[in-house]
Amino acid sequence: MLNLPDHYIDLHPTVRDLLSSECQLYIGGQFVSAQSRKTFETIDPSTEQVLASVSEADATDVDRAVQAARQAFEGDWRHKMTPDDRSKLIWKLADLIDERAEILAQLDTLDTGKPYQTALTVDVPLSAEHFRYYAGFPTKIEGATIPVSTQGMFNYTIREPLGVCGLIVPWNYPLLMASWKIAPALAAGNCIILKPAEQTPLSALYLATLFEEAGFPPGVFNVINGYGRGAGAALVEHAGVNKIGFTGSVATAQTIIRSSADTLKRVSLELGGKSPNIVFADADLSNASVGATWAIFGNNGQSCTAGSRLYIERGIFDKVVQGMVDEVSNIKIGPGMTHEPYNLGPVISEVQMNKVLSYVDEGFQGGGEAVTGGKRMTDTGYFIEPTIIVNTTDDMRINREEIFGPVVCAMPFDDVNDILKRANDTDYGLAAGLWTTNLSRAHQFASKLQAGTIWINTWGNTDAASPFGGYKQSGHGREMGKEAIDLYTEVKSVWINIDG
Ligand code: NAI
Ligand code: MG
Repeated sequence: MLNLPDHYIDLHPTVRDLLSSECQLYIGGQFVSAQSRKTFETIDPSTEQVLASVSEADATDVDRAVQAARQAFEGDWRHKMTPDDRSKLIWKLADLIDERAEILAQLDTLDTGKPYQTALTVDVPLSAEHFRYYAGFPTKIEGATIPVSTQGMFNYTIREPLGVCGLIVPWNYPLLMASWKIAPALAAGNCIILKPAEQTPLSALYLATLFEEAGFPPGVFNVINGYGRGAGAALVEHAGVNKIGFTGSVATAQTIIRSSADTLKRVSLELGGKSPNIVFADADLSNASVGATWAIFGNNGQSCTAGSRLYIERGIFDKVVQGMVDEVSNIKIGPGMTHEPYNLGPVISEVQMNKVLSYVDEGFQGGGEAVTGGKRMTDTGYFIEPTIIVNTTDDMRINREEIFGPVVCAMPFDDVNDILKRANDTDYGLAAGLWTTNLSRAHQFASKLQAGTIWINTWGNTDAASPFGGYKQSGHGREMGKEAIDLYTEVKSVWINIDG
């Protein structure tokens, strides 16, 4: 079945094994097929060839996973293991992720087409770091004693795990997006059912074997692959699931909120963006040009924080755009699994490619012009040229909706007061950035831009220790940092009459 081009790097034997038979679900410590026996295919977006066949979970399998996770939650995980035991397990998992980086990176590269070196040196180590950061938390999740104003009463709080968390993640950074959610959920003492994106089911299954190797009790971590409308929806609706942690599109988030209404489960949402990136005339222009290029083209624009609305002060507009065109001319694009040092791979799927290209066409029809890019690159594989478009206006759909591909619109501005309004005139609020050497301006904009992350003379930084999330339609809640512990715990207030 496995049909990879000759020029691909050699598959790790473990990867070859994993792909050579059905990739099953992982429930209660066992690899099992879907009860319906249904499978779906995951494909290599560089070649459009099938990589593997994957068990397709439906509501029945989700129910099995919920039973397993609930049993684990009520068992040793909750009642016998100390916080220190949990810390050691999570740290061990981080070490195993680093140790098996090659395998995890190959699986994410095959599924996404991203460069193997990127997966190996960015996605995987950042995932391990995420577990390492949260490994320290179990022993530090504290309650408080509260000075209540009722005579004779002693009041304190306890922070408890929520129970079973359904974590639904996207395909842009499969292992890393899963880690962002799994690590704090585990640290807080929850059990987990992970629903990877149907485009990228593979790395989560290998991660499951690492949970086993680290010594987690069965049922603490479960993986159900399948489609959003099947496995995903069943997880959201299940009464035995206490919380949904989701990263993905606004439309799916809205569906999740509606269908979680019956059970009123906790929901946290990390959604997309249409992030403004503002270059002022006083900026270091060569840094700004390179920074603005990678703000959008990093991971092929398939990042929730992509700097897709680029505002450049008019006097330096041509110079910055030319700097970006020069930077783009050095970007090498090709299949991530080859030995070539490519910077970018294909976009994830035919659906995504067509979505991106249709936004580009619409931009052209509205008067936009590409200074570079604008087309599909090859007949096979979902490769799109990095595209910089000028002559568009703020009201065009291309400047209002998330494209999630390698497309940026560069627009000039004249008025420094006006640009703040334009930057904030969006339904989204995930990230925003500016390039300037003016310190007061940097602080003013940091305070007034409506976004969960502000980058000044940089773009794209994240760290397990620093909170991340969105204003407005970019989401609910903050992941990372100590804030993420709030997303995965319930606070209990205890009153004791000490007056006898
Ligand atoms: P999506 O939001 O539909 O998919 C993300 C995850 O949600 C996947 O695991 C999917 O199976 C699951 N899902 C889908 N429908 C569901 C449902 N009814 N109930 C429960 N789970 C469900 O995103 P999709 O279709 O892959 O991409 C569409 C657009 O969404 C992209 O073009 C991009 O604009 C945006 N997106 C944003 C991401 C981000 O990081 N903020 C990540 C992925 C997509
Ligand atoms: Mg795939």
